[in-house]
Amino acid sequence: MTHDIALRTEDLEVTYTGNREVTALNGVSVDFAANKLTAIIGPSGCGKSTLLKSLNRLHEIQPNAEISGDVYLGDESVYDTDEPLPEIRRRVGYVPQKPTPLPVSIYNNVAYGPKIHGDHSKAELDDIVETQLRKVNLWEEVNDRLDAPGAELSTGQIQRLCLARSLAAEPEVLLCDEVTSALDPISAEQVEETLADLKSEYTIVMVTHSMEQAKRLADDVVFLYLGDLVERNDARSFFENPQNERTREFVKGHTAVEYDDADGADESEPESTTAQTVSAE
Ligand SMILES: Nc1ncnc2c1ncn2[C@@H]1O[C@H](COP(=O)(O)OP(=O)(O)OP(=O)(O)O)[C@@H](O)[C@H]1O
Ligand SMILES: [Mg+2]
Repeated sequence: MTHDIALRTEDLEVTYTGNREVTALNGVSVDFAANKLTAIIGPSGCGKSTLLKSLNRLHEIQPNAEISGDVYLGDESVYDTDEPLPEIRRRVGYVPQKPTPLPVSIYNNVAYGPKIHGDHSKAELDDIVETQLRKVNLWEEVNDRLDAPGAELSTGQIQRLCLARSLAAEPEVLLCDEVTSALDPISAEQVEETLADLKSEYTIVMVTHSMEQAKRLADDVVFLYLGDLVERNDARSFFENPQNERTREFVKGHTAVEYDDADGADESEPESTTAQTVSAE
């Protein structure tokens, strides 16, 4: 089955210069399917965050990062473009591991972007705030205290508030870097449920250290090892029938539960038409 490609990298190479030069990405070419959730997995330091940040040029904040290759949002390069950087980062939003609410009310945390970028009436802003808070499953928990400071919420609620703030900018792609790893199990589950709800509407690229989370949420999985793309496949084939020995070892070492055959699909012939494997010697 083929899917529309929302975002893709072409021979992306990122090197951090300095006393010790590190090649964090070693010529990575990978597709991200539209309205799907792609999980990026791999050992610590293998380039996951670097790949994520290079998708909306966030790595440029680090002055020692050098990049070659390209990233395409649809048909347009995000590097070779006249589009202003804030607009690229609006279209490709980034949700960090540790969310920071703005020092304003819950309402204004969500309304902040629309207030700056648009000419909205109070009723329109009310509608945006309610819609986005509902999307992240937070409306029921906060609608009686929208004027309270965002910082008063629990860490899990703040993560969902920051997701709502990102969504209010109407992005096409959401980049999520370990967004549940700093949360308690119940909050993590709530954020996970939110991402599951959002993925039919947005293209989500998510870095995770949790194999179980990748199994529960991902449509596609990308495995990085020491800056190389080792394997990319649909999640079911990836976990049930890894093509590369290194993937097999990594998945085996990080997996506690079997892949759940919840939809009763035929298991005999895992779909592998989108498999992409590269030797990472
Ligand atoms: N600003 C920087 N300057 C120098 N080296 C860096 C910088 N940022 C990252 N690196 C190096 O680049 C490599 C990839 O880092 P990156 O943060 O992308 O890995 P990661 O897979 O996200 O790791 P983790 O799972 O620990 O978050 C690592 O070797 C890291 O030390
Ligand atoms: Mg990282």
